[in-house]
Amino acid sequence: MNESRIKRVIDRLEGTGLHQMLVCDPVSIWYLTGYYTEPFERFLALYLAKRSDGSTVATLFCNRLFPDASGYCPQVVVFSDTDDPLPLVAKLCDHDAPLGVDKDLTARWLLPLMDLGAASRFKLASEAVDGTRSIKDEQERALMREASRINDEAMKWLAAQVREGVTEEEIASGLLAEYQRLGAQDHSFAPIVSFGANAADPHHEPDDTMLHTGDMVLFDVGCKYENYCSDMTRTFFTGEPTEHQLEIYETVRRANEAAEAIIKPGVTFAEIDRTARSIIEQAGYGEYFTHRLGHQIGISEHEPGDVSSSHDEPVQVGQCFSIEPGIYLPGDLGVRIEDLVIVTEDGCEILNHYPHEVCVLLA
Ligand code: GLY
Ligand code: MN
Repeated sequence: MNESRIKRVIDRLEGTGLHQMLVCDPVSIWYLTGYYTEPFERFLALYLAKRSDGSTVATLFCNRLFPDASGYCPQVVVFSDTDDPLPLVAKLCDHDAPLGVDKDLTARWLLPLMDLGAASRFKLASEAVDGTRSIKDEQERALMREASRINDEAMKWLAAQVREGVTEEEIASGLLAEYQRLGAQDHSFAPIVSFGANAADPHHEPDDTMLHTGDMVLFDVGCKYENYCSDMTRTFFTGEPTEHQLEIYETVRRANEAAEAIIKPGVTFAEIDRTARSIIEQAGYGEYFTHRLGHQIGISEHEPGDVSSSHDEPVQVGQCFSIEPGIYLPGDLGVRIEDLVIVTEDGCEILNHYPHEVCVLLA
């Protein structure tokens, strides 16, 4: 159990007037206890509560197929495939008080729990956990740094694979071995390798497209290092860059660097998005920047709290997120430049050090 993280969650919960909640996201349960399982369709929950005498309750509900063999949780309620776990949960809940639930508690569990009268009312309380996960502690920051250091190294390997006639899939399929050679355990998401016009789809899946000199090449890749994710994008030129390619590239680069330059505690996520977006709009490409500027990241590759116009909260020390402006011209090209940053007391630490400058391969 990680007592200090559980305390932070309960403090946030109490700030919203709640004293009990069910955490069902397996990754959040791992973050709070050290216990991890992928339950598939089976029920899994951590019940957290602050009792009126000030004591804390943290009880894990897990299927006997996935026992807490390492004893991470002092209080465990075990059930089998043929048991209904919900009356067991309802028994522990304070029926006269509201119950917070996270966004991973699916309707198939929530609705019967409501029918059982497990609480006076049910309220979405994901923020208590997500807000806690959002502020990375020192140990987490070190792991995020290392995951990004490995990603920088992997980008060198990727650039070295670029040659006339190579396919996107050939490069993408070799990346896992390189990550593992560098000390990572896995991809943090399926790698994006896009040549030429394929990069106009921001989430293009690598296929048998062959590289022809003159195409731009986009790599959006990330690894997992001790459960923490990296995520970085670089776009390269092959052959002699055209004026058009250079103009798009430099616009995206300016947008990335201007956004990173304003990050400090108190600046809002929306202001950071606006800084990048206005540079792309002024260059005449606003309608071709089709997504939010970034997302938070940590144990999951995408964590709640977008860097977008719809998120007007100020950033806080310890938050880690991507800055990834892009311009996508259908049938022509796509450019994205992405770094991860961690907010510091007076600015931000940029976790990626692979250069932004124009890089021409196959010159
Ligand atoms: N790395 C893919 C994304 O951030 O959507
Ligand atoms: Mn990203």
